[in-house]
Amino acid sequence: MCGIVGVIGHKNAQSVIINGLEKLEYRGYDSAGMFLTNNEEDSQLTKVVGRIEGLKEATKDQVNFKTGIGHTRWATHGPATKDNAHPHVSQSGRFTIVHNGVIENYQELREKYLKDVTFKSQTDTEVIVNLVEYFALKEDLTAKEAFRKALKEVKGSYALGLLDNEEPGVLYAAKNKSPLLIGVGEDFNVICSDAMATINETDQYLEIKDKELITLTANSVEIETLDGEKVERMAYTAELDANDLEKGTYPHFMLKEMDEQPAVLRRIIKEYTNEAGELAVPQELIAEIKQAERIYVVACGTSYHAGWVGKELLESLAHIPVEVFLASEFSYNQPLLVEKPFFIFLTQSGETADSRQALVKVNEQNYPSLTITNVKGSTLSREANHTLLLHAGPEIAVASTKAYTAQMTVMAILAESLRREKGIEKSFDMAHELGVIATVIEGILSDKEDIHEIVKKELADTRNAFYIGRHMDYYVAMEAALKLKEISYIQTESFAAGELKHGTIALIEEGTPVIALINEDNVASHTRGNIQEVKARGARTMVVAMEKNAIEGDDVVISNVEEMLSPLTTVVVTQLIAYYASLDRGLDVDKPRNLAKSVTVE
Ligand code: F6R
Repeated sequence: MCGIVGVIGHKNAQSVIINGLEKLEYRGYDSAGMFLTNNEEDSQLTKVVGRIEGLKEATKDQVNFKTGIGHTRWATHGPATKDNAHPHVSQSGRFTIVHNGVIENYQELREKYLKDVTFKSQTDTEVIVNLVEYFALKEDLTAKEAFRKALKEVKGSYALGLLDNEEPGVLYAAKNKSPLLIGVGEDFNVICSDAMATINETDQYLEIKDKELITLTANSVEIETLDGEKVERMAYTAELDANDLEKGTYPHFMLKEMDEQPAVLRRIIKEYTNEAGELAVPQELIAEIKQAERIYVVACGTSYHAGWVGKELLESLAHIPVEVFLASEFSYNQPLLVEKPFFIFLTQSGETADSRQALVKVNEQNYPSLTITNVKGSTLSREANHTLLLHAGPEIAVASTKAYTAQMTVMAILAESLRREKGIEKSFDMAHELGVIATVIEGILSDKEDIHEIVKKELADTRNAFYIGRHMDYYVAMEAALKLKEISYIQTESFAAGELKHGTIALIEEGTPVIALINEDNVASHTRGNIQEVKARGARTMVVAMEKNAIEGDDVVISNVEEMLSPLTTVVVTQLIAYYASLDRGLDVDKPRNLAKSVTVE
């Protein structure tokens, strides 16, 4: 994880870096640091444990620097301390570096080249900066050649920004597997992990490919391969609205993003409606999937949960068998595949290292793939054969909400396109139903205070909770439990309601909260039975039910929608439950402990 911003030639490097790191805080927020320089005699290194706010305060007077690199950290090697915070400086003080990624062979490199170096931190990063210095001094190489040589030695993932005291007008950068972009300004240039970090400075960006070495000055950008071959690349305009990156009048990004869901749904419907007025994805994609015997969905976390809903939609509407895998398991234990597989990678960020590693493996075997992502031009989007965008707008809160509903919606549209192409009779009007759902979600959101009251009453002091449901409700329960635990720290588990009696029911005690989700006719009475079973053992039950299956006393009643699409409405109730549980506990809703939004380590 971690976020990087670097700038060269700007009139106020401190503000560019602080503003950028604030936007990148979603990538990690254990500690932060910044190195600012005009020349060797005139430079400042500042590190803080904790949020960017602390770094901003500590550097508020450092306004006269043209060049700098900054970093927000999600700890991998070594705890969140000042010493482990980036930037890291080489032993002699000549080189300074920021790094996002994991160097796998850092111990080996340390043994081989850096026995004489006294390390100040426990990080893998300090090895790289000293390796650059080692080659510069021992082999009398220029900074660029020493950097190149070091990059050829390191194994693992990295996005790096490097400054050399002896070359104050130059910023070096490189990447492998971790994201990094170049932003082109007027008389200055920047590097950043994500264009949203520096969109207020420039909307012109250049992609950096893996294993390229970048040399930036205030007025020039040079891209070359590690073998020294020069590369020409055109800048593109980043289509980001700076307003999307602000909370506006909302107290939290999560609340704003939940509220955006009806608009996102309508935007997706518009983006995927073809000239004939039908919901459709590109024909080349349909043609390729049609040849597949089976679809494999690969994803992590919330996206993985959306994958299960996608499986149901693809199987029931388009009659294609689908398997769903956790990316972190798939990469190292590939299942037995059919002869003609098709892979779908679901990823909000398009940068998740576990998913990316699985895609690398899929590409090595030349299997066709699609990435469904919120981020145009992201790594997984570039490396898959096809991309479908979520059109959800930037999602900043660590807990994913609108991206999850967008993922299910795009999967539904994909399933609908395949159904039509295969001539399978339709069981409901997808476009109409999605429109209805956008309105139903609006209704849920407008009654959010009712959900707050339930949370105050039922979840105020609990240490644990359960979500139960069957079929589509079980998939929502999985997501609902993740949401509640990640931001409120209430230990929450989800269960297929019928499975409770096979073991888990032993955990039910007097007062244990159990939230049951009931949408579908054919499982409603069974889930009601399971509610009675836990009640009889002392559980405090709450029921979220679709109107047609609701009974008196249910806690939340949701208007009727097509059952297959009910996760889109039910999940919004559970997002609100998680939000208020976190808020009432006084926790940091948008930035829960130990987490980061974009998980770029395996
Ligand atoms: C939880 C959450 C994570 C992500 C997961 C995958 O709220 O957001 O579980 O879903 O880290 O991230 P993406 O979708 O970016 O691949």
